[in-house]
Order: sequence, then C-alpha cells, then structure tokens
Amino acid sequence: MQYYIKKTVLVTGASSGIGIAFCHELASYGAALVLTSRREDRLEALARELRTKYECEVTVIPCDISDPAGPETLVRSIRENGIDIDILINNAGFGFNGLFPEGSPEMYQKMMQVNMVSLVMLTRLLLPDMIRRDSGGILNIASMAGFLPVPFFGVYSGTKQFVINISWSLWKELQGTGIHVSVLCPGPVDTEFMEVAGVDRKIAAFRGMQKPESVALRGLKGLADNAPLKFSRSLLRIPYLLSKWLPVRLGLLVGGLAMRK
Ligand SMILES: NC(=O)c1ccc[n+]([C@@H]2O[C@H](COP(=O)([O-])OP(=O)(O)OC[C@H]3O[C@@H](n4cnc5c(N)ncnc54)[C@H](OP(=O)(O)O)[C@@H]3O)[C@@H](O)[C@H]2O)c1
Repeated sequence: MQYYIKKTVLVTGASSGIGIAFCHELASYGAALVLTSRREDRLEALARELRTKYECEVTVIPCDISDPAGPETLVRSIRENGIDIDILINNAGFGFNGLFPEGSPEMYQKMMQVNMVSLVMLTRLLLPDMIRRDSGGILNIASMAGFLPVPFFGVYSGTKQFVINISWSLWKELQGTGIHVSVLCPGPVDTEFMEVAGVDRKIAAFRGMQKPESVALRGLKGLADNAPLKFSRSLLRIPYLLSKWLPVRLGLLVGGLAMRK
C-alpha cells in the first residue's frame, strides 16, 4: 500500500496478536516501525525478525501505558531517539469478561487507562507535529463491542464506545487536512485477548474467530482510504446496522447472550 511507504509508524501493543500482524504488514510496505508494549523480550524478538525479513528500520521502546506517566515517557524516548512519528496505531488494549464486581478496582483502572486515557494522550502528544507537517495518520482499534452495551463485558464495551466516538470526532475535525483518521472495529479475533479477558475459547471459536493478519490488513486499508469506520469483515456491517435500531432492552439481551459465561 503506497500510503505507508517510507512512513514511520508507532504501533502500541506490538508484542502480540493484531499488533504483530500490523507490524509485518507495514514492514512489507516499506514503513519504519517503532514497537511498544510491556514485554521487551517479545518486542526485541519481533524487531529482529522484521529487520531480517524486510530489511526495515525498527526501534523498540518498552512502556507500560497503564501508568498515567506512560504516554509522556514513551513520546519523550521517541524524541530522544530522533524519531518523528508519521502514523500512530493505538492498538494496545484488553478486556474483562465476568460479572462487574468480579473485576478488581485496580484492573478496571488499568483498562480505562490503556484503552482510553493513553490513547487520547498519545494522540494529543503526537498530533501537533502531524498538523505542522499537514501529513499523518491515526488508526484506533475499537471493537464491535463498542456499538452496544454488553453485560458481562460492560467496562470494556464502554471503553470501546469511547474510542469510536473520539475517532469519529477527530476524523471530522481533520477533514480537508493531510491527516487520515480511522477506527477499526473487529469481531472476535484469534489472539491472546481471549485468555487475558477470561473469555472461554470454545465459545469464542463458536462465534467465528478471524485471523489477526486479515484484521490488520483491513485496518491498514481503512486508514489509507481515510475511512472513518472499518469493520474487520464486511458482514459485520449487518449487526452494526441492527444495533442502531434495536430497542435498549433487546440490545442488552443480545449483548448479554453473546458474553454470558
Ligand atoms: N481479539 C479480539 O477478539 C478483539 C476483538 C475486538 C477488538 N480487539 C482489540 O484489538 C486490540 C489488540 O488486541 P489483540 O486481540 O491483539 O490482543 P492481545 O493479543 O492480547 O494483544 C494486546 C496487546 O496490548 C498490549 N498491552 C496490554 N496492556 C498493556 C499495557 N499496560 N501497556 C502497554 N501495552 C499493553 C499487550 O502487550 P504487553 O502485554 O506486552 O504489554 C499486547 O501487545 C485491542 O485494543 C483489543 O481490545 C480485539
């Protein structure tokens, strides 16, 4: 994809799942990469693989973005390395499947920090340079769970609704500039997300899981086209449209059935 040639892309959550798939795809288009997440060993192994396979520039900067100081520390390190970020992919995120009181206050705090606050802060810290250059891109990863309130997945679905709203607002504000904004909404994807969230794999598989590679490809296409909303597969447009018209009680029934353990 032309759009990514010679661009420098920051990928959060690069140590696993959809993040790894983004990195391979981007490197194959000739982008330079900055990889971040907490697990440094995994990031370094991925960086070695990408350099060997695609001969691309890769910088690893580990960071815990559940720490409120994380985004500023990360952006400072990027600048100290003399790197300008052209495209930001806010991919890091996690969920929790269970009754609301079963999740600890600390876990919810971290989920909101990673899924929402750090996404906003990274965008706020990096966007002014993109505006100055009148060129750049922001790709946010939300979820189909962001279109409905989802019992047993409530905080996660709320964080993803936030991601959708902020992405659409930004897309509108930046129309007519050289900066693309897109939000990718995947359905179930075969990654570590399920284990981390405590979703039963068998139930998830029954719902039909996509491979992370095809999901990443759709997301990158969405950003290149400056599409405000991209589903990880076209069929997901149907539940999305239905969710707009369902009465709240019916929506809650459907969402609850999907995530009941
Ligand atoms: N898989 C699905 O079914 C699905 C569906 C819809 C949307 N999504 C969204 O897709 C995105 C990618 O998820 P995935 O499926 O690829 O899941 P994954 O395999 O569990 O990857 C999650 C990534 O987020 C990073 N991360 C988590 N907490 C972090 C923290 N405190 N600081 C920095 N990085 C952190 C993890 O890295 P470290 O552990 O190394 O820090 C990991 O690289 C997420 O935003 C998720 O909500 C996933």
